[in-house]
Amino acid sequence: MAMSSEWVSPERDLALELVRTTEAAAMSAARWMGRGDKEGADQAAVDAMRAMLDGVQMDGTVIIGEGEKDEAPMLYNGERIGNGQPPHADIAVDPVDGTTLTAYGQAGAIAVIAAAERGSMFNPGPVVYMEKIAVGPQGAGIVDIRLPIERNLTALAKATGKKVRDLNAVVLDRPRHVGLIEEIRATGARISLIRDGDVAGAIATAWPESAVDILFGVGGTPEGVIAAAALKAMGGDLQGRLWPRDDAERAAAEEAGYDVDKILGLDDLIGTRNCFFAATGITRGALLRGVQFGTETIRTQSLVMRGNSGTVRLIEAIHRAEKLEALEERGRLRRTQARAARQTAGETD
Ligand code: FBP
Repeated sequence: MAMSSEWVSPERDLALELVRTTEAAAMSAARWMGRGDKEGADQAAVDAMRAMLDGVQMDGTVIIGEGEKDEAPMLYNGERIGNGQPPHADIAVDPVDGTTLTAYGQAGAIAVIAAAERGSMFNPGPVVYMEKIAVGPQGAGIVDIRLPIERNLTALAKATGKKVRDLNAVVLDRPRHVGLIEEIRATGARISLIRDGDVAGAIATAWPESAVDILFGVGGTPEGVIAAAALKAMGGDLQGRLWPRDDAERAAAEEAGYDVDKILGLDDLIGTRNCFFAATGITRGALLRGVQFGTETIRTQSLVMRGNSGTVRLIEAIHRAEKLEALEERGRLRRTQARAARQTAGETD
């Protein structure tokens, strides 16, 4: 696609505006921490993110959204967001990556958004899962998803100057990963099994503070695309391969024109450096601190990235607590409006 250097003026870092949406989502979701209600946490985050998105100058189309639950529009695929002015952007949202983590007050939940020049973002289509390998800058160009685990770990150890037994591999704790975990253990490398949240897991490979070296395994395809935007800015790498769950999903993907055997590199997932990423911690984690509620203020910690420059910012913010109430109210109102707009669109389809 045509790459316009003027897509976003060089002075503008869209991610610095988008971070307000992840801060809002994180604060709203954090109010639901430990309440055992993941839908409630997710809806609160979606409402807050949508309310904040109204003020962002962009003509955004949601490529990767939340879908719809119980008739409630959840920043669905195709939803137009922003104030309608250029730049024209593809948007991926995950207002809560780690809904269960949030619902049970466990570590590692974040609120995330990624934006890229229109037409440049991979659309996951019907394939829910993707096999992934992710590394930070030292592993970029070194690992290859087609190679055996042992070869990748040996190559990464060489590139980082570490011993294989000192490497730390993040893997989602799932029955489908029993064989993978055995293979990693056989090399002597260490493993961090995470319950959820492989966007944060992938980004952690490029974030030295987190002491994570590599991510392996099958997770959500949307989460893979979102993490790719961050790793692009950070100089890391993420490779994926679609992982249809059964023959029907494989057939649906092929019908829709997907090559399920293709290795998807960073450029396939996000086909431009003109991309932006923002994430805010909801619960405490290796990547970001969680939301902290004070008496009159709320503190958040976020990562903000711009692909073109490769700048990564760690942003601490102190918010006035009373503003969250107003935001939550506006979010609920916007949900009602979005539902009405969705119904009207459905009727005219
Ligand atoms: P949710 O926040 O939507 O629950 O997703 C959490 C997550 O762990 C992702 O980070 C990951 O990509 C995906 O779920 C893995 O899917 P599954 O839980 O079905 O194995």
